[in-house]
Amino acid sequence: EKTHYHDFVIQATPVKRLCKTSNAITVNGQYPGPTLEVNNGDTLVVNVVNKARYNVTIHWHGVRQMRTAWADGPEFITQCPIRPGKSYTYRFTIQGQEGTLWWHAHSSWLRATVYGALIIHPKEGGNYPFPKPKRETPILLGEWWNTNPIDVVRRATRTGAAPNVSDAYIINGQPGDLYKCSRQDTTIVHMDSGETNLLRVINAGLNQQLFFTVANHKLTVIGADANYVKPFTTSVLMLGPGQTTDVLIKADQTPSRYYMAARAYASAQGAPFDNTTTTAILEYNTASCSSNCTTTNPIFPSLPAYNDTTTATSFTTKFRSPRKVEVPTEIDENLFITVGLGLENCPTGAPSSNCQGPNGTRFAASMNNVSFVLPSNFSLLQAHHQGIPGVFSTDFPAVPPVKFNYTGNVSRSLWQPIRGTKLYKLKYGARVQVVLQGTGIFTAENHPIHLHGYDFYIIAEGFGNFNPKTDTSKFNLIDPPLRNTASLPVNGWTVIRFVADNPGVWIMHCHLDVHITWGLAMAFLVENGVSELESLEAPPVDFPVC
Ligand code: C2O
Repeated sequence: EKTHYHDFVIQATPVKRLCKTSNAITVNGQYPGPTLEVNNGDTLVVNVVNKARYNVTIHWHGVRQMRTAWADGPEFITQCPIRPGKSYTYRFTIQGQEGTLWWHAHSSWLRATVYGALIIHPKEGGNYPFPKPKRETPILLGEWWNTNPIDVVRRATRTGAAPNVSDAYIINGQPGDLYKCSRQDTTIVHMDSGETNLLRVINAGLNQQLFFTVANHKLTVIGADANYVKPFTTSVLMLGPGQTTDVLIKADQTPSRYYMAARAYASAQGAPFDNTTTTAILEYNTASCSSNCTTTNPIFPSLPAYNDTTTATSFTTKFRSPRKVEVPTEIDENLFITVGLGLENCPTGAPSSNCQGPNGTRFAASMNNVSFVLPSNFSLLQAHHQGIPGVFSTDFPAVPPVKFNYTGNVSRSLWQPIRGTKLYKLKYGARVQVVLQGTGIFTAENHPIHLHGYDFYIIAEGFGNFNPKTDTSKFNLIDPPLRNTASLPVNGWTVIRFVADNPGVWIMHCHLDVHITWGLAMAFLVENGVSELESLEAPPVDFPVC
């Protein structure tokens, strides 16, 4: 078991995309940021030095952070931001996780450019549960804005309107050759005929679920969110922001050049989306075009339509754990949480320029009607640890305050969200079930729901309203997949289970940044257990307070 030391210098870096150079915030001048590679059981020590003019924090997405919530990273949840000119060293150990995770800024919309892959190989001396592939290639799907993403979200917050959609989807930082000024920089993945490549696909996009496919090649899914899955083959993946999917691809086609492509899966009703497509190239080293490959057009794949919910859900419901797993069968805490968008009436006295949402409203999103507000003087974790009163309350409702037809055509007067910093308290070791219920207020959308500090079993999902009488028959308590981010289907529900064995404060939120901006989050406060090994460690000496 090794310890890996890294320095992350957060800095403004000129980046040229789509014919235009702008200053992007990067880590060490790299965009996307550095790939970290470790073995299961290793420790990471990452010293983050903030040389940018924005506050920043780094989140290690999917890392369980057992007893080390101090290193989790979401701004004002576990820590106060690292201010310009300051630094913080994140220190944590990978315990029992193998596969692909990633890291990203967890402050405003900085993760648009501050992100990278975190690859966890098997324990030293250990093996993959499949033949070791010849190559491994991280594939980071992302989004690029021509304007500073921080300005995009600040403007949206000020006006109450929806923020601009991105100007391009990108693969490993490149928009690909369908976009202007991008052709010569298109990402190319080389393969030898006959060899197998492990593609570690990460959706690092901010606001779009994405389909991903490779022309003429089958993809064998073997893992997701750093958990192995029962292998299955598919021609198309769908990833919500936050999710990772590991696939094996074999170079078993005629040597040539093939496009890999990603495009939005945006089944939102009426919401704006960017229907462009990004490409990268899979190039056989023995391609017969070897003399003039750059002028040969690669073979283009067929991609599902942007609203192809059938393809998306038939993919997301194929995941199974490789074998029988220990899902909690008895439940101590049974929560039912509505997840959805909404609109706020213009606050009395507010200028109309602050209410440029539909019909003079402002966008607001909520869980069980509470639109989550971040504190500003303490992090929730610090306030909890030191017993500082007045920073949060623990009255997050276990069930929605009103019952109605959640996925019907609901009048918005039924559902005017309240704002609050409400947590839900869990005893150490509690067995928790959460029914996540999408709503159709204002608009029904997909929500990639991410829980920090935990992996959870997805035991069932479906469309419409969850029915506790009949839908329990759909529960898979044998081999459900273990994930850290669940794609809550549009106008549907997902049921997750986990055991609260990691003390701390853990945010659960929609991983579409536009939705978290509007408050689509809540947080669990998991109490310490009795022994020291069931309790949060002491905070690091350089822990950022406000
Ligand atoms: Cu990947 Cu709260 O984030």
